[in-house]
Amino acid sequence: MLQLGEQITLYSVVFVVVLLGTRSAVWSTVLTVSLYMFLAMFRFPQVPASRVQQVLHPAGAGSKVSVVAHRGGGHDAPENTIASIREASKNGATGVELDLEFSADGVPILMHDDTVDRTTDQSGPLSQMSFSELSKLDAAAKHRLREKFAGEKIPTLEEAVEECMKLKLTIYFDVKGHPDEAAAALKKLYKKHPVLYNSSIVCSFEPKVIYRMRQSDPDVVTALTHRPWSLSHFGDGAPRFSSLWKHHWMTLMDVVLEFGHHHVLWKLCGISAFLIQKNSVSLDYVQHWAQRGVEVVAWTVNTKVEKDFYQEVLQVNYITDSLVEDCEPHY
Ligand SMILES: *[C@@H]1O[C@H](CO)[C@@H](O)[C@H](O)[C@H]1NC(C)=O
Repeated sequence: MLQLGEQITLYSVVFVVVLLGTRSAVWSTVLTVSLYMFLAMFRFPQVPASRVQQVLHPAGAGSKVSVVAHRGGGHDAPENTIASIREASKNGATGVELDLEFSADGVPILMHDDTVDRTTDQSGPLSQMSFSELSKLDAAAKHRLREKFAGEKIPTLEEAVEECMKLKLTIYFDVKGHPDEAAAALKKLYKKHPVLYNSSIVCSFEPKVIYRMRQSDPDVVTALTHRPWSLSHFGDGAPRFSSLWKHHWMTLMDVVLEFGHHHVLWKLCGISAFLIQKNSVSLDYVQHWAQRGVEVVAWTVNTKVEKDFYQEVLQVNYITDSLVEDCEPHY
């Protein structure tokens, strides 16, 4: 019934917005009905709840909160490396969040940025570096503990996943773009290691990535990632664009994306979890999604006080930069 109320709200909003734009009741009706049919025909059903539980709460006991090391735990070890995965496991993480990227010659690797500048001893865009070039870089070069982790390499996706399986860590694959390549690479991985269906989740800011993933393998557990105002503002709150016109346009797009994520895209993609910037998480919000069979995961939760709050009060899984101490967020 809740779903019915929500649907009526959704279609009313669409109807009114189109009516205001076109002043035509016919067009408003046609477009609203088209949206309804589009959703009904093209949406993916959610993965069965029992398997989602295994992925999000591998320790069992329904309510047990999972702690996930962001980029493998970028504060405790060089981000997105095998060392970070081992460190996260040693420090008691339930899982790791890893960023999927590709070398110029199409090898799936772990890297957050689209250049190697911030994390390695070299500079340049990933799109112009072959895997053999990337494999020579020092992935610990810019880390605060670079001495301890000297010589750490950029891992392939395959190497990282095998390490996680060995250590029984849940994997949150964070995919930033390349929907087709990413879906193909991940599908191959799931077929090779079926245990991943029970122990990993594919997440993205981009609905298209998640939609493509479910198209190529509907059994994969997925999540949408969201931060309010992410199109117009950086993670630290600074505006992305200096042009006022562009800033306002992207702010408007943020409102559309917010509406889309919460009312259309989650359903179209059949997601099982919603990864949301921690400040937007409240008990009401968690319950709102729980009623829709979607679990909230908060990011990035970096202080002891906050961790206690998310764990004890909100009881949601959270993603953190450090398993051992308070630290500043790594955007
Ligand atoms: C995944 O979990 C289900 C249910 O617990 C189990 O039957 C299945 O064998 C598991 N698959 C793998 C590959 O571990």
